[in-house]
Amino acid sequence: MQNKDGENIVLTGFMGTGKTTVGKLLAEQLNREFIDTDELIQEREGLTIPEIFSKHGEAAFRQMEADVAEELSQRQGLVISTGGRLMMDPVNVRTLTRDGRVFCLIATPQEILSRIEKDTDHKRPLLEVPNPGEQIVELLKDRQKGYHRFQKIITTDKQPEDVTGDLLDIFQADPKRFSIDHPAQPYEYVVGSGILPFIRQLAGVTGSIAVITDTSVKELYAQSCGDVDHVITIPVGNQQKTLATVQDIYNELIQIGFDREGTIVALGGSVVGDIAGFVAATYMRGVDFIQCPTSLLAMADTSIGGKTSIDLPIGKNLIGAFKQPSMVIADVATLQTLPPEEFTSGMAEVIKHGLIADSDLLDQVKNGHWHHEAGTLYTSLFEVQALVAQSIQVKIAIVQEDPFDSGRRFSLNLGHTFAHAIEQVSEYSIRHGEAVAMGIVAATNLSIRLGRCSSDLQETVESILKMVGLPTRIPGLSTELLLKAMENDKKRIGDIIRFVIPSSVGHALIVDDISKDATRATLLELTS
Ligand SMILES: NC(=O)c1ccc[n+]([C@@H]2O[C@H](COP(=O)([O-])OP(=O)(O)OC[C@H]3O[C@@H](n4cnc5c(N)ncnc54)[C@H](O)[C@@H]3O)[C@@H](O)[C@H]2O)c1
Ligand SMILES: [Zn+2]
Repeated sequence: MQNKDGENIVLTGFMGTGKTTVGKLLAEQLNREFIDTDELIQEREGLTIPEIFSKHGEAAFRQMEADVAEELSQRQGLVISTGGRLMMDPVNVRTLTRDGRVFCLIATPQEILSRIEKDTDHKRPLLEVPNPGEQIVELLKDRQKGYHRFQKIITTDKQPEDVTGDLLDIFQADPKRFSIDHPAQPYEYVVGSGILPFIRQLAGVTGSIAVITDTSVKELYAQSCGDVDHVITIPVGNQQKTLATVQDIYNELIQIGFDREGTIVALGGSVVGDIAGFVAATYMRGVDFIQCPTSLLAMADTSIGGKTSIDLPIGKNLIGAFKQPSMVIADVATLQTLPPEEFTSGMAEVIKHGLIADSDLLDQVKNGHWHHEAGTLYTSLFEVQALVAQSIQVKIAIVQEDPFDSGRRFSLNLGHTFAHAIEQVSEYSIRHGEAVAMGIVAATNLSIRLGRCSSDLQETVESILKMVGLPTRIPGLSTELLLKAMENDKKRIGDIIRFVIPSSVGHALIVDDISKDATRATLLELTS
């Protein structure tokens, strides 16, 4: 691939997704020439597209498109908006990707319809039917496979200026790489925008690749993974972390003839990461494993460290294995579709990392250009990429110091002794990250109570958690049940419950000498 200045930017997508508007804005910002293939053809022929269709036929029009694609691919530094079907043809794709990067603008059928209804300048013969809404859904289904090949840019509920900003972020940001020096196997963590299609190339895999994902993520990203051989899908949800699910996956792997030379890719949040990692650790005594986290929690935290786990009916995370990935590929562009409450939940681990070991990371969260729109926390992909990169570096540094989880690594459990009890007592109706946020406040309160940190730390911690929309009080759970759950937690050593508490911003302590009374007083103070 040549340098970015020369690379053409090619926009594709269904009608009404804003290819021309965004393309023009982009060209203006980058000081490039803008070309719309439909307009170019109409100008050259002196006819409108419907006229070309009726005079010369569709095949002739498609040939004109192919000729234009070939001609434009010989030039450099253009922004090209393509006709809705031009990039459905694999020959045109090959031509225009020789020296160009393709982005596909997408929007919901409702949004497409409302934009088209507003735009009375253009005739849309394909939609001159009694029910254009249904027609859009049908046409999108038809083209889904083609469009899925490209980096997607979401335009629903966004102004063209914001879409252009997202696109520029993705185009200009280079992936960042960090190496993780693990005794079992050193590996790399790569974070970037739009890197999902290059799993095979980035990880240098030559054998067969089986992607394990859940139904939601499959729908959105399975076809964006580039050159992979199989996709195995599990239902969505935490309750899938069972041996039955694992067995179904083993069976499917056997059926497709997947052998020890193959590589398993986890594509999804931490639930998928846990299950796929466990499968990779155990199938045929272990096969290569790549993590492609798509939730913020998985990107900023769980995709490294090598812990995988499965539940038993009598308790969660009781079965597991350490399985180091051979690479982690975090494509932050996938976070555009993550439900807002899941994004917020992931921010708890980012804040946790800042509080344990990196006050700059906390400043980065505080000073981020956040927009709070309709309950959604959002900032540019560029900033999200920087946050993920900074957050994962904290975890990398700590995991490297303690690869087998025997000491320092315990500090990563800040807030988690409380959080696991809160999740359990709430019967898992509270998300992991939300419980971690409550747990971080509780650990800080405990630290103040014991005189281990200054009394203004709680306010500092609460204000940053609130800023990203995380809860800071425990909602009406029984203190006695929470205490009991903590006593049963894995982190208990004999009669002692081990806690991590903050001592100041960027520093944490591991303490074993905390009385039940102090813990009870903290829980009572924070339960609303
Ligand atoms: N291995 C560990 O160290 C560890 C630690 C803590 C928690 N966990 C597990 O992880 C779970 C929470 O992880 P999580 O927050 O990643 O949740 P998750 O894996 O359940 O994902 C959350 C939801 O978001 C969807 N999703 C994921 N990526 C998406 C995307 N890009 N676009 C649209 N939807 C997307 C998923 O389908 C799912 O419905 C916990 O419940 C726990 O089981 C594991
Ligand atoms: Zn956690």
